[in-house]
Amino acid sequence: MRTILTAHDTQDFPPRTTWLEIDRSALAHNLGSLRSQLAPGTRLMAVIKANAYGHGAPVTAQLLQTAGADAFAVATLSEALELRQAGITLPVLVLGYTPGWQADLALAHGVTLTVFDLETAAALQAAAAIQRRSLTLHLKVNTGMNRLGVSPPEAPALLSALQQMDWLRVEGIFTHFATSDAADKVHADLQFVRFQQLLAQLADAGLRPPIAHAANSAALLTMPQTHLEMVRSGIALYGLDPDSDECRLPAGFSPVLSWKAIVVQVNSLAPGEAISYGREHITRRPTRAAVIPVGYADGFPRRPRHWGHVLIHGQPAPILGRVCMDQTIVDVTEIEPLWGTVRQGDEVVLIGHQGDSSITAADAGNRIQTNNYDIVSRILPRVPRVYVR
Ligand SMILES: Cc1ncc(COP(=O)(O)O)c(C=O)c1O
Repeated sequence: MRTILTAHDTQDFPPRTTWLEIDRSALAHNLGSLRSQLAPGTRLMAVIKANAYGHGAPVTAQLLQTAGADAFAVATLSEALELRQAGITLPVLVLGYTPGWQADLALAHGVTLTVFDLETAAALQAAAAIQRRSLTLHLKVNTGMNRLGVSPPEAPALLSALQQMDWLRVEGIFTHFATSDAADKVHADLQFVRFQQLLAQLADAGLRPPIAHAANSAALLTMPQTHLEMVRSGIALYGLDPDSDECRLPAGFSPVLSWKAIVVQVNSLAPGEAISYGREHITRRPTRAAVIPVGYADGFPRRPRHWGHVLIHGQPAPILGRVCMDQTIVDVTEIEPLWGTVRQGDEVVLIGHQGDSSITAADAGNRIQTNNYDIVSRILPRVPRVYVR
């Protein structure tokens, strides 16, 4: 369990004493498991917004491009440009709103944009006309998530107007489910019926774009009728459940991300000593308190709740007092008698396995009343990503 911090191998260590390990083979394997659920010819768009759900977008995209993803989805134009800078040549769709004033960058880098209103489309067309370059678009339809999208009754007229604009090419049409990760599929089924009715109407009018897509990870896994020409999968690629109660991943997936650190100091404290800012924790017994170099400015939450514990020597080490910006103090008093003295350099696991114990992103999410998506996507860029296996 002791971390190998010798002069010999420190050169292989990341530039910080906390880091994420991203398991390349798990990522490729999860992609293959998703692919095996799809009919031949159905495209798989890998959703790698928010720094690939915290996994590090540039390298994750390179790995997925090599492993056979067909396209990428991101939230913002800036995320798309980061992928182009990383040498990603596959199509990249921006799922969020892109205003006309960002069109030049999208055109220059061959990024596909989402549209859902005529005004923005007109601004994009104007920019594309000036550059004399065609801009590829996907139309977003709101079938019941009530976030982005044109309503189904308004979609045919908008699509017809878009198709009159010479410099715009509407390649795709899509919608997004609000509850495909729930056991009760009534609302998701209703959304899909609305989408299918629209697609049929558009086909009759000769307006249907060639690529229709609706399924996220949960729908990919549990609603095969929704696969259409393409699916958009995020969370399952990373080996995480779409919902930890109602939509668990089947066999064949494993988590890609582990979060590790090393112990940087261990203090022996007498009863009655206070720990960390605000002196919120007062020791009641002789205490061995280990300092770990991770804090809220890494995405390790401070309030109103924190992670609860980390793993050291394969055992839970409870957090003592307040989480600081860059450091946290944990209790190893009960670990040492049975599992050995804790020393500087010992491995700490915040997410992942150690010995027979583990902390999953969902476990951490339960502690702070959120989900696994939130836990991994909040890990900040200053935590180095190390790509292993
Ligand atoms: C529009 C859209 N499509 C697809 C996805 C991928 O969802 P998931 O990570 O559940 O597969 C998301 C993620 O939130 C999304 O916003």
